[in-house]
Amino acid sequence: MRVTGMIRYVALFITLLGTWFIVQTYFDHRWKAISLRSWLGVTNKPRSEQLPRHKCGNQKSCPQNHFAFKIISGAANVVGPSICFDDMALMSSVKNNIGRGLNIALVNGTSGQLLKADTFDMYSGDISRLDTFLQEIRHGTIVLTASYDDAATKMNDKVRAYFMELGSSHVSKLGFRDNWVFLGAKGLKNKSPFEEHIKNDKNTNKYDGWPEQLEMEGCAPRKMD
Ligand SMILES: *[C@@H]1O[C@H](CO)[C@@H](O)[C@H](O)[C@H]1NC(C)=O
Repeated sequence: MRVTGMIRYVALFITLLGTWFIVQTYFDHRWKAISLRSWLGVTNKPRSEQLPRHKCGNQKSCPQNHFAFKIISGAANVVGPSICFDDMALMSSVKNNIGRGLNIALVNGTSGQLLKADTFDMYSGDISRLDTFLQEIRHGTIVLTASYDDAATKMNDKVRAYFMELGSSHVSKLGFRDNWVFLGAKGLKNKSPFEEHIKNDKNTNKYDGWPEQLEMEGCAPRKMD
């Protein structure tokens, strides 16, 4: 009786030992790694790895052969606009290359390289400078535009026609202190899908005298046509 009992205990002990050994070998390592860290709230991954940062700080990453972009219009006559393309801040208050009116960056649609960035006063400025700037845009160039304060007072039909040629659908309706963000390209066969326009309307304006700021982000195909 006692011997049988002893054997049972020994057998049980060996079984438990074996189970512990198997569990230890196969699971313990991983289990410990997961549970201990989550209990302690400790992670050894840097923050940037947990929340992937996309180009231009966008919500989504872009497929191959696309350029990430983000265009933000000005807010009233206080906060300047910004233009990001392929993770490069092309125009911004920090870069000190923006101004009231229209802010336009030209990018090579194949290489993504910045060609020109300029700002045009549309309230009291010289419209012929903008006319020349738009006229000289070469085929395959991506054009990024952001309004600030007023982008329409000096706008004329010739300049509107240039923007329409770049794929704009809204430029014809652009009025005093409207906000407008637009990405187009020279040589587009269709209208650009990348355009937002908000009217200056005292019933809907967010600010006293100006509509709310526009922010548009997306993925522009390389060599748009
Ligand atoms: C754009 O870049 C491509 C490739 O680098 C080059 O061949 C082309 O001439 C450039 N076009 C313009 C308009 O700069």
